Amino acid sequence: MGIKVLGTGSYLPEKVVTNDDIAKSLDTNDEWIYSHTGIHSRHVAGENETTATMGAEAARRALEMAGVDPLEVGLIVVATTTPDYNVFPSTACLVQDLLGCKNAGAFDLAGACAGFVYALEQARGFVNFYPDKKAIVIGAETLTRIVDWSDRASCILFGDGAGAVVLGNDEAPGVASTKTTAHTILGADGSGSGFIARSGGTKEALPINPETGVPMPAQPIVPKMTLMGHDVFAFAVRALSRVASQLCERMGTTPAEIDRVFAHQANGRIIEAVARRMKLPLDKFWLNLETTGNTSGASIPISLDQAVRSGELKDGMKIVMVGFGAGLTYAGTFCTWPNL
Ligand code: UT7
Repeated sequence: MGIKVLGTGSYLPEKVVTNDDIAKSLDTNDEWIYSHTGIHSRHVAGENETTATMGAEAARRALEMAGVDPLEVGLIVVATTTPDYNVFPSTACLVQDLLGCKNAGAFDLAGACAGFVYALEQARGFVNFYPDKKAIVIGAETLTRIVDWSDRASCILFGDGAGAVVLGNDEAPGVASTKTTAHTILGADGSGSGFIARSGGTKEALPINPETGVPMPAQPIVPKMTLMGHDVFAFAVRALSRVASQLCERMGTTPAEIDRVFAHQANGRIIEAVARRMKLPLDKFWLNLETTGNTSGASIPISLDQAVRSGELKDGMKIVMVGFGAGLTYAGTFCTWPNL
């Protein structure tokens, strides 16, 4: 009883780009990429696919598993760093239209690779306040459209895709949930905002016409990602292991009691280092980045859906979801699946 995940869904584009494919036009190779990241290939959105279409498809699959009608949905949150448009209209509004969720409010959440956990917490609050309504939380990204394909140290990392969960409250109708098995930590360290950044916002002032004092038309900027890999790596290992350990402390348990960790899939070596720090066997950590790459906000919900559909994530398991990303942000949730 209480707030729970009623269904999960995910979507990965059909097109796959391997390390060997990238090596045809960049000075790199499969051996370097795999040994430094654990990635062999990634999915790349097709011409007609966008963050919204992939997010909607993942959500459609989650609604189907949940047996929830789109009209029952009161909120859609899309965690993304690659919205279809430059901030507005929000991708969540596009998803709302694609799904026919006419009764849902919709907004995007910019928490980068930790965004899904942030969004889940927003939706958990919503379902708690409006116990008769359902919420959809989506992580969706089209990162291959913003990476710098001439930078071998960053473009090799990223892939496209989407994952989604449907949340509901199975208390008596109209009764706010008082029971929770979950604990969440949301955090940020803005002093590392330069470590991963994307150009193309309003930070750069436009040149002013000296005669009129009016801003002059801007040259369009092609947004690109810049990444300080070493700094992000070190932050990630610290943040992921600290958040997961703090969650255990606050739940009055130990890391050894965790059945599965769904960590953001950024780099296999980051996850290995976190497992070592937490003294946990690596097989407690869900790993799929070999074939997905880093899908930022989509990586945790894609992992959850794969684990549910393969039967590896079972009701009653104690899990930790934990992510880190641009901002810098970090976030984690400890719960007894599928209760939140
Ligand atoms: O979701 C959050 C997003 N960000 C991340 O997750 C990034 C976290 N950081 C990382 O995953 C790693 O730092 C990278 C995979 C980005 C880089 O791995 P690294 O082991 O830290 O490599 P490095 O940057 O120290 O580079 C070592 C060498 C350099 O050559 P020199 O200067 O030693 O001659 C690079 O130029 O490897 C070279 N290099 C490559 N060589 C072949 C960098 N990228 C490549 C490449 N292929 N793709």
